[in-house]
Amino acid sequence: MPNVVLVGAQWGDEGKGKVVDYLAPRADLIVRFQGGPNAGHTLVVDGETTILHLIPSGILELQSLNLIGPGVVLDPGVLLDEIRQLKAQGIEIDRSRLRISDRAQVILPIHVALDKAREEARGRAIGTTGRGIGPTYESRASRSGIRVHDLLEPDVLGERIEALLRERNHLLENVYGWPRVEPREVIKAAEEWGQQLAPLVDDVGLTLDRSLKAGQSVLFEGAQGTLLDIDHGTYPFVTSSTTLAGGACAGSGIGPTRIDGVIGISKAYTTRVGAGVFPTEDDGPAGDHMGSVGAEFGATTGRKRRCGWLDLVVLRYAVRVNGLTSLALSKLDVLTGLPELKICRAYRVDGEEVSELPASVRKLERCEPIFDTVPGWSQPIGAARSIEELPSTARDYLKRIEDAIEVRADFVGVGAEREATIERANPFDL
Ligand code: GDP
Ligand code: IMO
Ligand code: MG
Repeated sequence: MPNVVLVGAQWGDEGKGKVVDYLAPRADLIVRFQGGPNAGHTLVVDGETTILHLIPSGILELQSLNLIGPGVVLDPGVLLDEIRQLKAQGIEIDRSRLRISDRAQVILPIHVALDKAREEARGRAIGTTGRGIGPTYESRASRSGIRVHDLLEPDVLGERIEALLRERNHLLENVYGWPRVEPREVIKAAEEWGQQLAPLVDDVGLTLDRSLKAGQSVLFEGAQGTLLDIDHGTYPFVTSSTTLAGGACAGSGIGPTRIDGVIGISKAYTTRVGAGVFPTEDDGPAGDHMGSVGAEFGATTGRKRRCGWLDLVVLRYAVRVNGLTSLALSKLDVLTGLPELKICRAYRVDGEEVSELPASVRKLERCEPIFDTVPGWSQPIGAARSIEELPSTARDYLKRIEDAIEVRADFVGVGAEREATIERANPFDL
């Protein structure tokens, strides 16, 4: 049975949660493989909105098993809150519904403090979510991180936390002038987390392998987006994990031969939350329209998202670095009512036309978008369930995107509700 990866093709918040929830009935397992509670994935089902930060977006689909992979940085406090919130909605969480990798890194209060302290100290802040993501991945890379299995080994846990805090507190106090984090309190909290999470801990790579051998289907749920990737994004205004489809394997513990298809999701326009270059940003009435009609506020931090036109340089790049086999285009309905739409086909920089994304964020900041302008549409499209029901100008807009990126839009989003989706091909039908 096919296994499919879904990743964001822009700067995050493309609507990954909605598509994963929509596709979940076709997969036996749903896996988060990177990032952490910096993610905010929104599901709207029967008028009820659920926002998930760590739990995979298949959790409302009662048949699927949801896995948090080893590549994720996990904040136990956030996870336990999320489990409580789902319980309050009538969704019981146990091992048959959710498992967390014994190898996942644990976000500790020191990581959250360092994330915030660094942001304060930076001349030009990145605008992180303040969830401790970067410092936790740093601890992983320096091999001083705490992993989920450590929480279950109280004989060594205290020692490991003390060693980590000795070094990190030095930074926090002496470089950033912040109060230190007391090891004793962290050790106590960590032991309690271990007891609470123990029933959900699993060897996720092994579970996946067994399921794949039994012919089950897996949907890998990316967080953030291509342009926030640590290596391939708009560095240094990025997150600290590999957000690309290639990261799905290492982040869950299986090999690349197991992947059959990669869906990239893009909004019909562009948004970005946090600082950093955004060539097609629109500060005028069109950007205001996208922000208000699209309700563009961050699902994790509540920050206003910056809005602008669709950028085909970015989208073609996402096709290339992820090997996209399918496009999901979300929020087409939000463009309804704009008389004209602009699409960026290339940039002009230093007197030259370029169609590939430069590595240097400084060069990208000098890039002026070259736009094509096309007519919009005024009739609401929220009820459309086939491409034929869309106005001809909306179909032309879609066709122009598909021609430019040479990937078919298999899904088109026309509303936030699960059902507000036009489906042209089933990626699990291989
Ligand atoms: P994610 O992080 O990629 O899962 O995306 P977010 O949940 O952060 O942000 C996407 C927002 O757009 C959420 O509020 C969704 O409910 C909403 N959304 C997703 N798809 C559509 C769509 O096709 N149309 C409209 N109007 N809203 C959508
Ligand atoms: P989802 O999964 C949008 C952005 C932050 C900041 C940068 C680094 O919901 O699409 P971090 O806290 O990761 O160190 O912040 O990345 N960012 C996101 N933007 N959607 C997200 O997740 C994001 N996760 C991080 O705003 O610019
Ligand atoms: Mg989001």
